[in-house]
Amino acid sequence: VSQNRYQNIFNADQAGLDHACNLLRAGGLVAFPTETVYGLGANATDATACASIYEAKGRPSFNPLIVHFPDLAEAEKRVTFNEKAQKLAQIFWPGPLTLVLPRAESCDIAELCSAGLPSLAVRVPGHPIAHALLQQSSLPLAAPSANASGKISPTRSEHVAYSLGEKVSCILDGKDTACAVGLESTVIDLTGEIPVLLRPGNITREEIEAVIGSIQMGKSLMESKAEASPDDPTTENTFQSQNALKSPGLLKSHYAPTLPLRLNATEVAANEALLAFGKKPLLGAAYCLNLSEKGDLLEAAANLFSALHELDQKEDVQGIAAMPIPNTGLGLAINDRLKRAAAPK
Ligand code: TXA
Ligand code: MG
Repeated sequence: VSQNRYQNIFNADQAGLDHACNLLRAGGLVAFPTETVYGLGANATDATACASIYEAKGRPSFNPLIVHFPDLAEAEKRVTFNEKAQKLAQIFWPGPLTLVLPRAESCDIAELCSAGLPSLAVRVPGHPIAHALLQQSSLPLAAPSANASGKISPTRSEHVAYSLGEKVSCILDGKDTACAVGLESTVIDLTGEIPVLLRPGNITREEIEAVIGSIQMGKSLMESKAEASPDDPTTENTFQSQNALKSPGLLKSHYAPTLPLRLNATEVAANEALLAFGKKPLLGAAYCLNLSEKGDLLEAAANLFSALHELDQKEDVQGIAAMPIPNTGLGLAINDRLKRAAAPK
């Protein structure tokens, strides 16, 4: 299928799409062109596949991911659309606009995509190859920009190939039709009473306000040169560097358990719930959930948010004790999240 000098770049013909769909169904990663930038896609209902996105990008923290759908109806199965969201979707989809909305009760998207938040970012991309992949795979695809963390967002298949190398086994080539916009989608949060522009993009504040009335600029967009997020440094793209956009991972609204969380536990009390890791979970806890009995960081990342939510709902315990997680690879992102969750509120 491949006719390129990079072995993982495939023409987006039927054979290429079939290959990509098979990889996605097996939990693999596929980079694909959109009208904004190339996305690094995984089956959004497969938490382990989503964890491997962070691993491939080398992100030291879990930013929530945008989930892509072939049409509005598929998105509506996962998030709750209010009237403003419906209007925006009708006018701007398919296209470079991402809507942050409350997760639906029956949402089948991995909690990792929401990084533990009750919301999910959804988008229906306009590029025909993205659409064909979403349609033919019948999978919602979680996809951040297909670059290694801290590197420039990719607008050509070769950019993906040299940024991610063998970490992505299939890159669908959009050739000259890809990434006409060349900047990541506009992101708008519609979970509150007043919509908030979280990331500026090709669809402007004015265009949005013409449809739904006045919106607010995200706090991070108004603060002058606020600290940039560690994994989206100023090289990531022009808009983010100009606006010093903070990742939601750094915002206070980010999910933290209600119960106090104790890190690096080497013993556990009978009135604690244990977040275990590895072959030898501490004994004596009221409840125990093991992030990965094998001690596998990919599996642990995939289980992290659902485990925190589950332990946090235990009523007859005083707190959560978390066993140490190795601080390598995905362990960096897991520990980053645990540290924030343990920080005083
Ligand atoms: O154009 C795009 O949006 C590209 C293509 C591939 O679709 N994707 C992309 O994804 O730029 P990523 O992961 O690089 O950027 C996702 C942005 C981040 O700024 C993230 O913080 C925000 O969307 N985001 C995602 N889910 C969110 C949520 N639940 N709440 C708030 N912000 C969210
Ligand atoms: Mg990005």
